[in-house]
Amino acid sequence: MTRIDKNPTGGAEAVAAGTAISVRGLVKHFGSTKALDGVDLDVREGTVLGVLGPNGAGKTTLVRCLSTLLVPDAGTATVAGYDVVRQPRQLRRTIGLTGQYASVDEKLSGRENLYMIGRLLDLSRKEARSRADELLERFSLTDAAKRPAMTYSGGMRRRLDLAASMIGHPAVLYLDEPTTGLDPRTRNEVWDEVRRMVAEGATVLLTTQYMEEAEQLASELTVIDRGTVIANGEVDELKARVGGRTLQIRPTDPQQLGSMARAVTEAGLDGVSGTQVVPDEGVLNVPILSDQQLTAVVALLGSRGYGIAHIGTHLPSLDEVFLAITGQKTADSQDAHRETEEVAA
Ligand SMILES: Nc1ncnc2c1ncn2[C@@H]1O[C@H](COP(=O)(O)OP(=O)(O)O)[C@@H](O)[C@H]1O
Ligand SMILES: [Mg+2]
Repeated sequence: MTRIDKNPTGGAEAVAAGTAISVRGLVKHFGSTKALDGVDLDVREGTVLGVLGPNGAGKTTLVRCLSTLLVPDAGTATVAGYDVVRQPRQLRRTIGLTGQYASVDEKLSGRENLYMIGRLLDLSRKEARSRADELLERFSLTDAAKRPAMTYSGGMRRRLDLAASMIGHPAVLYLDEPTTGLDPRTRNEVWDEVRRMVAEGATVLLTTQYMEEAEQLASELTVIDRGTVIANGEVDELKARVGGRTLQIRPTDPQQLGSMARAVTEAGLDGVSGTQVVPDEGVLNVPILSDQQLTAVVALLGSRGYGIAHIGTHLPSLDEVFLAITGQKTADSQDAHRETEEVAA
């Protein structure tokens, strides 16, 4: 394998070609709190790595270490070939950071915020102005460009924050829970933007509490809990380990729930592993592994003459993912779950 080492000062291990972020044994303790307790991960150039974990897992601490805002206690990390401890200035020039909490200046307008950041990044006045306008347009903020950021909605703020992180054309972007607290529509807008950045060649490290977000955006996933990696791999691989999705069917006639469940069970369809009737909600849940089973179950019920009012699928919740991987609930599963529900509502 070809190996490159842009770190002639030595120390950090050589990083494999095509790897944008490489983290080995990263440790950061705050007093007795082990925020990071030996984290290893790699992000390939031009891909999105999802870092999934509940509140307090260490996600923001990881992002802060990789942004040079925190100095790790032990371990190594290189980003675009630069060592986080030894080459902080070069590293900062190649990254963009969007925090969970928007970091814009409330009193300045959207345009002034972007212009100011452009100037801080050494753009000329003219360059800073045109880059600001270009990004305002791209993030659908042109109409609000002259209003103070404090008048923006949550979604507009998040978009402004994303725009701000992109001013310097970063090769590597950190998105720290970019959609936590956003409504579904705004969340989709943010997802579209992230996809666009990746299509343009950016490498993204995305932290999230939502399996769905990871599935939408990331190709690979690292699951962390209490500062340690508890699983990593391809998103599809992990999903399969966790057991795919749940197909939820709402019959036109709730009285038929029981007989529909029996029909599915008796048909013994490949990859369909049982059914669960939820009378209170008037739905039948069927765990499935892929779209193939979805089609098969719906076709079966249709051919038997059952009326279906609504179907939907959902991914396992963070709790279910943790349960499947570790055999236990996360310490913080209650909180994480509540937030998941709020956003989904
Ligand atoms: N500056 C700090 N001082 C003390 N403890 C901290 C600090 N930052 C984070 N922590 C603690 O480290 C752990 C990980 O926090 P964090 O990285 O923010 O998790 P996440 O972003 O996954 O919710 C938590 O227990 C948190 O309370
Ligand atoms: Mg955080």
